[in-house]
Amino acid sequence: MTVLAISNQKGGVGKTTTAINVGAALANRGQRVLLVDLDPQANATSGLGASKDSPNAIYGVLLKEQPITEAIVTTPVEGLHLVPSGPDMAGAEVELTPLMAREYRLRQALRGARGYDTVFVDCPPSLGLLTINALAACDAVLIPVQCEYFALEGLAQLLDTIEAVRLRLNDLLEILAIVLTMEDRRNRLSEQVIDEVRRHFPKLVTRSRIPRAVRLAEAPSHGLPISLYDRHSSAAKAYDDLARELSARLKSRAPIALGGAIA
Ligand SMILES: Nc1ncnc2c1ncn2[C@@H]1O[C@H](COP(=O)(O)OP(=O)(O)O)[C@@H](O)[C@H]1O
Ligand SMILES: [Mg+2]
Repeated sequence: MTVLAISNQKGGVGKTTTAINVGAALANRGQRVLLVDLDPQANATSGLGASKDSPNAIYGVLLKEQPITEAIVTTPVEGLHLVPSGPDMAGAEVELTPLMAREYRLRQALRGARGYDTVFVDCPPSLGLLTINALAACDAVLIPVQCEYFALEGLAQLLDTIEAVRLRLNDLLEILAIVLTMEDRRNRLSEQVIDEVRRHFPKLVTRSRIPRAVRLAEAPSHGLPISLYDRHSSAAKAYDDLARELSARLKSRAPIALGGAIA
């Protein structure tokens, strides 16, 4: 089981869209995938048609030591399961603070999630205790970066946080990749941003990029990933390509890191 955190403290860069659609693409390819929604805004939850008011959800798992298996729900995609979030998560960071081993609550909970090939953790847009829980629980981080001006702003802080977690909480933590999202091929600015991010992180940026596509923005309001909402769209193909590329990247990592943090 490989655990991947999808993180960037900037909001609106495509974390949730990537979590849902890479998760669905891998499930379509036969993997068993679990998506853990760690964001109080619960966009991954509603984007997969699940209720934000489930009594069994990530809040109980993190704060009440409820078994994660009791919180898992199915989604419209065969092979893709979800641990939903909800508004009670708004206070979770504060409530976690006084708890013993507060950075490891998710890591411990995920020990109870068996039979999954890949677990995605959709992080909130901050570097607080919830994101630290995701980084402490995962094998590697996937960083979506929007193709817009200021794309690199904040990345240094994110990389510092990842490094601090690697040193103090999770020594196997790696960065899997940076994925460029919302590319507008008609826009010269997108091109410049892509060049700049590539120059800074030549090894990390994926070959696959996600285009800006209205269908991707529409799909969550129907509770569906793009593979079910508009299977033949270029956006569906882009996410399928990205899923394949990430699988290949995971396979080429050193064996010791595979399945590392949560063996
Ligand atoms: N490639 C894309 N093309 C068009 N709209 C997108 C794309 N990716 C995300 N969006 C939309 O942009 C908004 C922010 O995306 P989201 O995935 O929720 O970002 P984050 O989770 O980082 O806050 C959402 O309304 C989403 O539907
Ligand atoms: Mg989000």
